Amino acid sequence: MNLPSSWYVIARTAEIKKDQILPLTRLGQPLVLWRNPEGTLVVMDDRCPHRSARLSLGELKEGRLACPFHGFQFDPQGACQWVPELGRGAPKLCVKTYLTTEREGWVWMWWGTGEPSKEVPSWFTEVDSKFCTAYMKERWETHFTRSVENQLDYAHLPFVHRNSIGRFATSVQKYPELQMDEQRIKWFFRPADGSDPQTYIEFRFPNLWINRISEKYSITLAFVPVDDQHTELYLQNHRKFANIPGLNSVIDFFMILLNRRILNEDRRVVLTQEPIDVRLAQDEVLFPSDKAIQHFRKWLNSVHSQG
Ligand code: FES
Ligand SMILES: [Fe+2]
Repeated sequence: MNLPSSWYVIARTAEIKKDQILPLTRLGQPLVLWRNPEGTLVVMDDRCPHRSARLSLGELKEGRLACPFHGFQFDPQGACQWVPELGRGAPKLCVKTYLTTEREGWVWMWWGTGEPSKEVPSWFTEVDSKFCTAYMKERWETHFTRSVENQLDYAHLPFVHRNSIGRFATSVQKYPELQMDEQRIKWFFRPADGSDPQTYIEFRFPNLWINRISEKYSITLAFVPVDDQHTELYLQNHRKFANIPGLNSVIDFFMILLNRRILNEDRRVVLTQEPIDVRLAQDEVLFPSDKAIQHFRKWLNSVHSQG
């Protein structure tokens, strides 16, 4: 996918169990994810370099992934260490592997050309293990750029969400304070007494977002690019209120139901936006309330992209 070079969150750590082979398409690339015997994650192209079979249909053999077609075995670096008819390896035959790191429950993958940046974007310190966290995942049939822009857009609240959270939204005529740089876009309405805001929205490039509602409540999203037509939204609900052991799964169930309803209000409109890649929407006319979106588009165009 043609997106800026960066470390992208591509999955949750819990999705890749030991002894499991997981096929996943990310950034337009069919990938296969598995763990070596020490538990370290391996991400490689889901295509055998011999005659192109899907490696994800194969099996794990002593720390190698064996192709389902002719049994060639590949090590975690992608090198072929066993060709049955030769009775030895052919290490020059390689599957492409990707740089990954697992942190704070997420899998990050370097996508791009050139040297990977040493700094992997961090997860939000606002939410930690003291919160009750509920989780959901949803696939949207639209480009990554449209789903991100929707969460940078506060002016849609009283319209898209008129029957839910939009009822409490600040007037569209009032502009939020914006803090924007190469790492993040943060916006909030400063309290009348000038104090630091308790409620804010932050987007962290390239694909994380938090709605910090209060000290006790936040919602986070990871926008995971699947391919040019699909984005996977990983939503987490983090709360410190109503922590009632025995009832938490019921409370979480209803919190997720509410979040799903709000996301569906967004989805209904966002899926109608054409073209789906915002870089092709040169004729759109942005207004002052679209400042954050403008900044996001600048980032999309300014960072070296990989096709
Ligand atoms: S296609 Fe994979 S071993 Fe032949
Ligand atoms: Fe929305």
